[in-house]
Amino acid sequence: MNALQPGVLAPVPAVARYLTFTLKPRAHPRRPLIAIASFADGESCVVGVGESVLRALGVSIAGMRAFPSYSGKGFEVPSTPAALWCWLRGGDRGALLHQGRKIEHALAPAFALEHAIDAFRHGSGRDLTSYEDGTENPRGRKAVAAAAVKGMGAGLDGSSFVAVQQWEHDFGRFESMSTKEQDNSIGRRQRDNVELARAPASAHVKRTAQESFEPEAFVLRRSMPWTEGTRAGLVFVAFGKSLDAFEAQLRRMVGEEDGIADALFRFTRPVSGSYFWCPPVRRGRIDLTRVF
Ligand code: HEM
Repeated sequence: MNALQPGVLAPVPAVARYLTFTLKPRAHPRRPLIAIASFADGESCVVGVGESVLRALGVSIAGMRAFPSYSGKGFEVPSTPAALWCWLRGGDRGALLHQGRKIEHALAPAFALEHAIDAFRHGSGRDLTSYEDGTENPRGRKAVAAAAVKGMGAGLDGSSFVAVQQWEHDFGRFESMSTKEQDNSIGRRQRDNVELARAPASAHVKRTAQESFEPEAFVLRRSMPWTEGTRAGLVFVAFGKSLDAFEAQLRRMVGEEDGIADALFRFTRPVSGSYFWCPPVRRGRIDLTRVF
């Protein structure tokens, strides 16, 4: 039986490292991917394959596409496609560094490491603004229904699509806002995480309320804070049975529907944006039968 990579459903780990790879010119990705699939279990390392790699292999996965880019009022939402994504999950940064080096080495014939981002869990699962993140995530069977492809046959069922965006916060800007303005920009009270009954239309949870879309737009968010020197923010990660739900939310956030931009843009900006297809697992290993 094919199933979701277990790291998709598991709670966010204490620490993580995101590796993003590009495809080297005229390189053949097949053998390095087989090598990765032989030791990646989908739990300590969740793997996502980019569109360029699928194309290089002559494979088409229904629903896979390029990340869209947008320009809003005074902000950009960039599209930064990549060939391969590994989300290393664990409890020890040193172990993740070495696991990452092993993966980099196995992929080296065809893939070059472009970015490595160190991330971590903050408190009970908070964004660095201190707001609780993930409250309205679907749980249990609903989480599987939101994240897993089904009814498409072996090799595809149990796979997932993931949207990954690195956001960089402007803490000076955020700290200059009053508590009320901060709460209104999220649509929840930071103090007790209660949803505000009268949040403005620009509030983040108003923009993204999953049940307010037609059809409903549920995703499984597994975002984690990151820091590098004095820069910091959130690696936003959302898994879905398709990319439609995420894209509907993002369109509303940038104001495509009604011209109202998400209040998040007042203090944070996305600096990357990519989509990947996450193959299912079979007998504890990444199953690439759909690709080869
Ligand atoms: C820096 C970037 C972001 C931050 C700090 C952030 C933070 C938050 C917080 C604090 C909540 C409320 C608690 C919760 O239900 O998790 C929330 C909810 C949510 N966010 Fe974000 N978020 C960010 C980006 C995004 C993006 C890019 C999307 C999708 C395009 C998104 C989709 C959602 C959804 C679907 C909800 C739940 C809405 C509901 O059904 O009530 N978020 N986010």
